[in-house]
Amino acid sequence: MNDIIILGIESSCDDTSAAIIRNNKLLSNCIANQSVHEKYGGVVPELASRSHQQNIVPVVDQAIKQAGISPSDISAIAFTRGPGLLGSLHVGTSFAKGLAMSLGVPIIDVNHLMGHTLALHIDDGSESYNPPPFPHLCLLVSGGNSQIIHVKDPYTFDIIGQTIDDAAGEAFDKCAKVMGLPYPGGPHVDRLAKEGKPDSIALAKPNIAGYNYSFSGLKTSFLYHLRDNIKENPNYIDENKANLCAALQKTIVETLLIKLKKAAKDYKIKDIALAGGVSANSGLRNATSELGAKFGWDVYLPKLAFTTDNAAMIAMAGYYKYKKGEFCNIQEPPYSRVKN
Ligand code: KG4
Repeated sequence: MNDIIILGIESSCDDTSAAIIRNNKLLSNCIANQSVHEKYGGVVPELASRSHQQNIVPVVDQAIKQAGISPSDISAIAFTRGPGLLGSLHVGTSFAKGLAMSLGVPIIDVNHLMGHTLALHIDDGSESYNPPPFPHLCLLVSGGNSQIIHVKDPYTFDIIGQTIDDAAGEAFDKCAKVMGLPYPGGPHVDRLAKEGKPDSIALAKPNIAGYNYSFSGLKTSFLYHLRDNIKENPNYIDENKANLCAALQKTIVETLLIKLKKAAKDYKIKDIALAGGVSANSGLRNATSELGAKFGWDVYLPKLAFTTDNAAMIAMAGYYKYKKGEFCNIQEPPYSRVKN
């Protein structure tokens, strides 16, 4: 079979990204971040759409040049169809369709979450490349989702548990925001947590039935803790930031891993992967590896570059779908909500 060259396009939130893979080997992965949202403490959808429009042509152009290919080498264009911000998704979807029509190649729609899950299969040429075998369990934790997925093969993803309210990333970001940390707060909490004592503050650890998650109670408990202590000491946050971050991180990580442990036991699966933006968290990575050592799991951690939104993972998912001939009709619109 000839080489399969996929152009991946990702525009579901606030990063415009384009990547090229040849078979499962990464040739380029370019990302334009949008700093315009920083002053608002969160992503402003309309501004995100406009930035995608400005960024998409130069980012795709850069990805093609860096890969050392010409547009006529592209076999198909894979794009994030959803879930995400609808205006942002429209930019990537429309661009993918237009370029595909002009090149005379098919388009492949990718569910963003499945892209995250398959990020572990991107061969970037490094020695540490070690994709999880199928089937495996993947804890997918991002700004919008917290899910335990039974990944049976590159096409079959059974979501066995998910958040019923806030996602883990949202809990990090919202609690960080009330402490005055910049958006997105997750990486700042991670950094500060290293200097704090995780057991110095007790926070609510929500535990609901089955494999599902809930993080809204933790957020409220964090908020009440701050409110009560600020009454006594107006400088409470500044004087205790590291301890607050350490306690918050520990609680989120423990909450995530209790359910993952249960799922691994019930499904009798020992190949365990992490994916999504929050999988960059050092506390989560360490604690998962420790559990792995205890329970005899093989733990697969994504490279940091492939944890947050990137088009390499979209191209990777596109590659698998291309092999099966799963193409998308040009009339299909993007979708903002998770499609199971
Ligand atoms: O996967 P992602 O880029 O976007 C979504 O698809 O949602 O994830 C973004 C999330 C944000 O909530 C961000 O705070 C979180 O990932 N994040 C982290 C870390 N790095 C990114 N959370 C905790 N610790 C980190 N080191």
